[in-house]
Amino acid sequence: MCGIVGYVGKKEAKPVLINGLLRLEYRGYDSAGIATIEDNHLIKVIKDKGRVNQLNENAEINSLTGTIGIGHTRWATHGKPSGVNSHPHLDNSRCFAVVHNGIIENYAELKEFLISKNYTFLSETDTEVIPNLINYYYENSSNSSLEGNEKFLKAVIDATKRLKGSYAIEVLSSLYPDCMIVVRKDSPLVIGKGENENYISSDIPAILSFTKDFYLLNDREFALITRNDIVFYNENAEKIQKEIKNITWDAGAAEKDGYDDFMLKEIYEQPKSIRETIGSRLPKDSISVIEDLALSKEYLESIKKIFIVACGTAMHAGLTAKGIIENLCEIPVEVEAASEFRYRNPIVNSRTLCIYISQSGETADTIAALKLAKSKDAKTIAITNVIGSSISREADYTLYTHAGPEIAVASTKAYTSQIVLLAILAINFAETLDINNSKVRELKKEILLLPGKIEEVLKNEQEIKEFANRIYKEKDVFFIGRGVDYTVALEGSLKLKEISYIHSEAYPSGELKHGPIALIENGITVISILTNPLLVEKSISNIQEVVTRGAKTFVVTNQELNHNFDKVIKIPETSPLISPILSVIPLQLLAYFISKAKGLDVDKPRNLAKSVTVE
Ligand code: AGP
Ligand code: GLU
Repeated sequence: MCGIVGYVGKKEAKPVLINGLLRLEYRGYDSAGIATIEDNHLIKVIKDKGRVNQLNENAEINSLTGTIGIGHTRWATHGKPSGVNSHPHLDNSRCFAVVHNGIIENYAELKEFLISKNYTFLSETDTEVIPNLINYYYENSSNSSLEGNEKFLKAVIDATKRLKGSYAIEVLSSLYPDCMIVVRKDSPLVIGKGENENYISSDIPAILSFTKDFYLLNDREFALITRNDIVFYNENAEKIQKEIKNITWDAGAAEKDGYDDFMLKEIYEQPKSIRETIGSRLPKDSISVIEDLALSKEYLESIKKIFIVACGTAMHAGLTAKGIIENLCEIPVEVEAASEFRYRNPIVNSRTLCIYISQSGETADTIAALKLAKSKDAKTIAITNVIGSSISREADYTLYTHAGPEIAVASTKAYTSQIVLLAILAINFAETLDINNSKVRELKKEILLLPGKIEEVLKNEQEIKEFANRIYKEKDVFFIGRGVDYTVALEGSLKLKEISYIHSEAYPSGELKHGPIALIENGITVISILTNPLLVEKSISNIQEVVTRGAKTFVVTNQELNHNFDKVIKIPETSPLISPILSVIPLQLLAYFISKAKGLDVDKPRNLAKSVTVE
């Protein structure tokens, strides 16, 4: 789950690499390193445990002046974070340098093979087998007629054929000081084309300030990149053509724009990200339009069940969507964590529709769960935020959330955009099925009003910050809600634990009495979400029960409450089906300000990474 970056061009590579790594740090940040090829045609590597900024302060770093280089910011999978385990890794001859994102599952077997051929290893990583395998095939190539770069390419192709697992790899060679070879399988990698210079990265935003023209590599495609050229090959070393994509994202979208942290910026971007996600999908006087989605009435009528499969926050968006789809489309929906779905042989067939949600589009479990459904003849829809991401290449249909780049590890604007897009999908299905017309009309109207209502909710920032400052030292916090409010309680609880390291649990309010209430004691904080008018009385009783036992209460509601709760955040009313889009915002802000009060790194919480490209 690391970030990789590369540069081949006319200027010094180092500043480009550092700049790219800083933007990729959200993907992993336990170690960082760069390698360049210097004028003397030798590869120079500087790497260590710690953040990219520490690497940039390394006294040695200014000695790197090469115009071709690779960089890595690591989230360790094999071998603890340390200088020697950091990337780039060199082969024994120091002729090949590699950075790698992913896991080489058969590295132990490959290591044994290489040791039997007298190779030695310095690190505990799986990655170090790659440069040595390249060296092995380079030295032992059967095809001695190959010349120039092709011999290098052939060695990389042969080496990667031995790899099992996932990888995005950049390879430099001191024997070929003008070129770099890259390849990917199940880990992301994009190539940005410039003028007499080219860029490589794990994601588009990291190099968006340098170019807007991108090539997206498919699995097992190779690129041989020089300053003036990018040539693509398949694994038979045959040249292939690739289409260039112009990315219209604004480079500023990947900057903090004056906010202290990306998370806060992304919370505040929600009116815009929702507007963009709605786009032209809900025209005023006609039915909804979802580009590239063509599911017929006959097909939708034949569907017996919809699965929504995702991880973490994306799964919480799915839980909210279950209510919307069941209500509007009258098709049963089951929501499941991708890591469970993929290993339990679910009952899926051509009468099941499977929807996969993934902000990054790179989550290994979600992609594997999608492949499973495809193999069982189900139609698959991916909902993702990243254009050209791996999931978009696997799914039968891909719908984009258009939330703009989400950099903070804690997902905020992607979650609300996912719910909006799923609501539009439910509307589209109901319109195709020609059922529940008045509910559909009502929901459409409410969706279009969301951006303005989010602006209203954001005005509560100061009050939420004050409450955060009261409770930031707590050890345990509880979130409760009923129905759709429970789905948002789960999300609020995840947000809090991931960025503030406070233990928190979410329960359906009605479940409290069945056990968890034993944990409620004087002074404990209980956060309640209360938006469904039909459940107000019952939910208030549940809050009273914890107040009676001494709890402090923070209530997010769209109802008029005449009770003496510690803090009530009033939000505008909307359709109960989509109320999490508004009620989650105070919870996002609360988690944010608690993390700030504790002096933590909000955007890069410990042990986490933005895209979980390993199981
Ligand atoms: C969200 O705050 C989390 N960091 C995490 O749960 C995330 O939603 C999950 O890993 C899924 O990621 P994806 O949407 O990119 O697939
Ligand atoms: N498996 C490699 C390592 O542990 C790469 C890790 C990653 O992609 O995050 O160093």
